[in-house]
Amino acid sequence: MSLTLLENIGTLLTLQGAAQKGGRHIVEEDLGILKNHSLLFSGEKIVWIGPHRKIPTEFRKQKMKVIPAREYTVLPGFVECHTHALFAGSRSAEFEMRLRGKSYQEIAAAGGGILSTVRATRKESLAGLIKKTQERVNQFQRQGVTTLEIKTGYALDEKNELKCLKAIRELRGPRIISTFLGAHAIPSEFKNENEYLDFLIQKIFPRLKPGKNSLADRIDIFIEKGFFSAAAAKKYLSAARELGIPTTIHADQLTLSGGTDLAVDLESQSADHVLQITDRQIQRLSNSEVTACLLPVADVYMKCPFPPARKMIDAGVRVSLATDFNPGTCPSMDISLVGLLARLEMGMSLPEVVSAYTVGAAYTLGLQSQIGSLSAGKSADFICTKVEWTDLFYSPGQEFVMNSYSRGRKIFSSSTYA
Ligand code: NIG
Ligand code: FE
Repeated sequence: MSLTLLENIGTLLTLQGAAQKGGRHIVEEDLGILKNHSLLFSGEKIVWIGPHRKIPTEFRKQKMKVIPAREYTVLPGFVECHTHALFAGSRSAEFEMRLRGKSYQEIAAAGGGILSTVRATRKESLAGLIKKTQERVNQFQRQGVTTLEIKTGYALDEKNELKCLKAIRELRGPRIISTFLGAHAIPSEFKNENEYLDFLIQKIFPRLKPGKNSLADRIDIFIEKGFFSAAAAKKYLSAARELGIPTTIHADQLTLSGGTDLAVDLESQSADHVLQITDRQIQRLSNSEVTACLLPVADVYMKCPFPPARKMIDAGVRVSLATDFNPGTCPSMDISLVGLLARLEMGMSLPEVVSAYTVGAAYTLGLQSQIGSLSAGKSADFICTKVEWTDLFYSPGQEFVMNSYSRGRKIFSSSTYA
């Protein structure tokens, strides 16, 4: 196996402390900030991290590629754990309607919203969807994203949801995690939520069973007034659980509708949005392994309050941050803006934000044993930048990644930085 050495790294952030603490109660020391250390990886995995010049003899004898890294800050690749990046069409006109006073739910009830993206996505070919989505994947990649979650949920019929799931498996670059969100809205072909969810269980779930040919890695449902109730979701998610498919929930975004409680009851990987939750749900989350995924840019676009991040973190909840990139409630892919809002509006410290976008997000996807932090045995997923770590999540829109690696493979090299 080929060995590669990142030699004498200017500043290395391992996030090992954050990983050991399970992403809770993060302080600066948990970032594992090291000077003049080196990182050695073999194939997909990190095999050693230690002080420069102290490479163990077993490795020193072997041939290796050496990358001088004295000018770099190196840290785990960012994990973008909640996107709806697979869709066709545009909803920019609806955004203007919302600014002129129509609500998200009113637009949806009139056949717009999610259902308007559904019409466009059903019409798009497999090749067209792959092309559009790959361009978005590339945009995330430029920002240091080495793992990217993508949900379906804009097709809502058997043929086209399968088309979307297949499209996700064709994407290249970062590690891609596919989430089946057939339960995003009730398509007009079905009378009620139960009829539609039963249809998904019968027709799509058999294709999602864990295994080599599985078309998805997890499933999601939008629990919200006008979409799916917690009672119907319970049956649906329990059926997934029985097949061994991990679950996540769009929970308590616009109203308190039971999503977070259900995530805890069913041991989902995460409860996402969670901005309407009360102290009771915060307590329950803190005593669970469910990660709260916070999506502040969507809150800005929706003119919603921000989630009570400070309260959650102080209570011991593990949080992650993500964009929620989608054509309706968050047309931005900017991960720096997410972190900046978390710092400006949600009282999160920079170490908390860095951990949320690495360790916390890895937990959200159930990948904490492989990614989110750097140590021997974990995946070689990291980014090299010339900026200091204190410059992260500070200047949205500025390119700061020089190159990035996923599973030991270079997936991005900046043309801005030589
Ligand atoms: O996370 N809340 C449900 N899903 C998306 C919005 C999807 C859309 O409006 O197209 C969200 O905000
Ligand atoms: Fe979402």
